[in-house]
Amino acid sequence: MTDISALTLEEKARLVFGADFWTTVAIEDKGIPSAMLTDGPHGLRKQLGGSDHLGINASVPATAFPTAAATGSSWNPELLSRMGAALAVECRVEDVDVLLGPGINMKRSPLGGRNFEYFSEDPLLAGELGAAWINGLQALGVGASVKHYAANSQETDRMRVSAEVDERTLREIYLPAFERVVKKSQPATVMCSYNRINGVRASENHWLLTEVLRDEWGYEGYVVSDWGATWNPAVALTAGLDLTMPSTGKAGPAAVMAAVEDGTLDEAVLDQAVARILAVHERLRADRTAEVAFDVDAHHVLAREVAADSAVLLANEGGLLPLANEGGAVAVLGPFATAPRYQGAGSSHVVPTQLDEPLAAIAEATGRDVVHAPAFRLDGEKDDELLSVAVDAASQAEVVVLMLGLPDAVESEGWDRDHILLPRVQLDALAAVHAANPNVVVVLSHGSVVSLEGVIDKAPAILDMWLAGQAGGSALAQILFGQAEPGGRLAETVPWKLEHTPAYVNWPGGDKVVRHGERIYIGYRWYDATDREIAFPFGHGLSYTTFEHELVGIDVPAATQAAATVRVKVTNTGDRSGSDVVQVYVGDPEAAVDRPVRELRAFQKVALAAGESTVVELELDDRAFAYWGTAGWTVEPGEYVVEIGRSSRDIVATRSITLDVPPVVPTLDIDSNFGDWLEHPVGAKVLERITQSGVGDGGTDLFADEDMAGMMLQMPMVKVADFMAPGNGVQTVEGMLTELDALS
Ligand code: BGC
Repeated sequence: MTDISALTLEEKARLVFGADFWTTVAIEDKGIPSAMLTDGPHGLRKQLGGSDHLGINASVPATAFPTAAATGSSWNPELLSRMGAALAVECRVEDVDVLLGPGINMKRSPLGGRNFEYFSEDPLLAGELGAAWINGLQALGVGASVKHYAANSQETDRMRVSAEVDERTLREIYLPAFERVVKKSQPATVMCSYNRINGVRASENHWLLTEVLRDEWGYEGYVVSDWGATWNPAVALTAGLDLTMPSTGKAGPAAVMAAVEDGTLDEAVLDQAVARILAVHERLRADRTAEVAFDVDAHHVLAREVAADSAVLLANEGGLLPLANEGGAVAVLGPFATAPRYQGAGSSHVVPTQLDEPLAAIAEATGRDVVHAPAFRLDGEKDDELLSVAVDAASQAEVVVLMLGLPDAVESEGWDRDHILLPRVQLDALAAVHAANPNVVVVLSHGSVVSLEGVIDKAPAILDMWLAGQAGGSALAQILFGQAEPGGRLAETVPWKLEHTPAYVNWPGGDKVVRHGERIYIGYRWYDATDREIAFPFGHGLSYTTFEHELVGIDVPAATQAAATVRVKVTNTGDRSGSDVVQVYVGDPEAAVDRPVRELRAFQKVALAAGESTVVELELDDRAFAYWGTAGWTVEPGEYVVEIGRSSRDIVATRSITLDVPPVVPTLDIDSNFGDWLEHPVGAKVLERITQSGVGDGGTDLFADEDMAGMMLQMPMVKVADFMAPGNGVQTVEGMLTELDALS
């Protein structure tokens, strides 16, 4: 352990800033080596020459794993943990201490420019996958930097915008993935976001960085700024930021020293930040005991496994997929067949170790004739000649594999999209090809959700590969010919139209402010609350085999405890092996506050051989039933509905359970309504006594008629008391509060 007291103020001030773009300051004579932090998260992006955080300059070759938009669909924490371990090996070989990832923000709108880097619209799914990834990575002594904390759901004005979010929405939607990750995996670092939250920059937000993160959740690592997210270093340190990246030259350390000297920054705060940074780096170094070797081919094979396990078979009419190994020609159409879109743009951009071309992989996977035509241009320009060649190829083939998706230029970190449509030329190509040959398998490559209007009715099979990484091409070939199974289930809803999406009227805000008017209702929570037709629901994905889910039972250990164990029997009823995801949703139909119809509260992926069955047990803890109320996490007594779903819209079993937990007693104060007093177990007695004894002279009898009492429910008690005895309202309620205290 470095002795902080042996460091000078200047040394300490330097240690809380980067030395350059990617490394921290070394103070060799004090035994402090430098540490390297670099992107992340779908592969290592270690730059050799020019440094930037926009994905411009080159980096060392590294395995380009599928992006989070894909891996979110895997619903497979075990696989994510193996991917984390593989990333750690690549970091170790390149002497990287911290890999900047994973990104676990919520996908609030399909327009979000970084949706490809985020897992899901659901905090449980994002948190579980993030925690598994981190545990895999950190077990080998490489730190994670979970990002971007918090409420970083858009790129528009990302360095200034204030996300205006009420606390309940933060607690139930935007923070729980971070909370889960902190509690389950203690990431070495948490990266604070650029944006403001309710007016306060994330980097200067004491509530976020200290009260919630450390005091409530018990976070032990250090907080690093997103690159350039620090504005006032002394304010940021006081709020709980530890390390500012990248280097600010001499300016940052000078400002910190000046703030200590003039008393605006407590030196103990600086000491604490230095101690946290050094402790994390020391621990990571100490954890690097196991020898590692980077097996480039094995990592490529893992990337392929992840891609297949993340691919979502959205539709498969007539069992068009998998294709037989023998038969007529297969026309593989679209420019993505030879130039795959497999990763996103921006700071996560990596240079792959190799790249599987879909067309070549398909030709290799089958004995059938494979022909190719580009069909359309990626720049969106109409090209009739290109299309007519493709239509010819389609009409002569037995089956068509048409690769559609978003070109690189259409989505990226740094800006948001303004629509969710596939390029017109692609939809036209699909229509023309389908007219020539209706046996069309559409393969999608994209980082954020696209509308499938104009696709669903023309493609009996739709396979969503997302951005599938460097081995996506061969994973696709394996899935098409049934050598691998499409293991993915949607981690986000596919809406019909942008106008249907939760944030539509609030997005992306203006004047440096974006309001979260839809509150807790994002993703399926929104579509279910508004009873909206959607193209494909959260959790949806087909398999090549068939499954049956049977709710065996729900054990509630003691009705007075908010917990339950749900047992589900899953049977592979088909004739080939495959995997499925058991999804447990909970709803609270009668609650004191508005609540989503259902919320994902547990899930488990199961792989089963043909005919095999297993019983899985899924645990629900108190948070599975709780909402965030004025008194914090609140579980009401009464009935809860537990549902087993194949998706949020395909519920296969429903059962009610009753929790006999203590009633929620609201706090009464001078501002409480008449109705609050009436409902309060002790308050009601005080109220009764007051109304019986009468207040003042000549007042009104409150219960003289029922209608009047009904109208009063939402009237402040002070005003009601005034009504009974004019001028005495405040005094009366103060007396009632004293009496309440005495009786409680
Ligand atoms: C991004 C981070 C990234 C960092 C370093 C920032 O612009 O928001 O996600 O880790 O740059 O490249």
